Amino acid sequence: MMEQRKPLIAGNWKMHKTRSQSVQTAERIKKLTGAVKDIDIMIAPPFTALSDTAAVLQDSSNIALGAQNMHWLADGAYTGEISPVMLADAGCQYVIIGHSERRHLFAETNAQVNLKMASALNNKLIPILCIGETEQEREAGNTKILLDKQLQKGLQDVFLGDPKKLVIAYEPVWAIGTGKTASDKQAQEAHAFIRERLTAIFGNIAAAIRILYGGSVKPENAAELMAMPDIDGALIGGASLDADSFSRIVHYQR
Ligand code: PGA
Repeated sequence: MMEQRKPLIAGNWKMHKTRSQSVQTAERIKKLTGAVKDIDIMIAPPFTALSDTAAVLQDSSNIALGAQNMHWLADGAYTGEISPVMLADAGCQYVIIGHSERRHLFAETNAQVNLKMASALNNKLIPILCIGETEQEREAGNTKILLDKQLQKGLQDVFLGDPKKLVIAYEPVWAIGTGKTASDKQAQEAHAFIRERLTAIFGNIAAAIRILYGGSVKPENAAELMAMPDIDGALIGGASLDADSFSRIVHYQR
């Protein structure tokens, strides 16, 4: 690997956990992974639990807080939306953008994803841009066309000074929450293609951009996925809800 990329293991709790459940899970994760220094860790609780979880992580040097979505503006009359300024104020360092559930269940478009990407970076949040094909797109042989389009449109005119400030998550829609994981080779092929496209967009600094794999990652399959040269971490849904299973993924090398 030409460029050293520190692995990132990220948990997306989706619409799960109350404040007290989030605090409890975060405390246990902290206990189980506090000594891990060679891996970055992020957890993304629901909005209502961000501040309480931030308090748990305050003295943690290796576990960061993330949000699952945001609006692109700082404030305004947008009922039900949360701004990047509010996320930073609540203690977030990361924000997940364009998750397939946002795109497919809430009709989020590439144009909106693009506004959010620029805004996150301007507000000093590290965006995790999620991209990935559906089963039909894969079967039709359109995976690369789709990934290229999501990258081109999502990153259009986005200025990136520091490649460590951007994370991409390749999450094949057919593998999310289904128990079906992309094979290590399928995932590596997609990741290598994504890095090639990122190089076309950002130049050589793309070698330092972390690309996570997401879709039914579990303690049992994390090590083989992480062994692939272009897989730099994981974005985990289901298996991140339980502190012990999430921590086992963090400890995938051991
Ligand atoms: P999963 O979700 O691990 O439950 O498949 C992944 C994701 O949605 O990020």
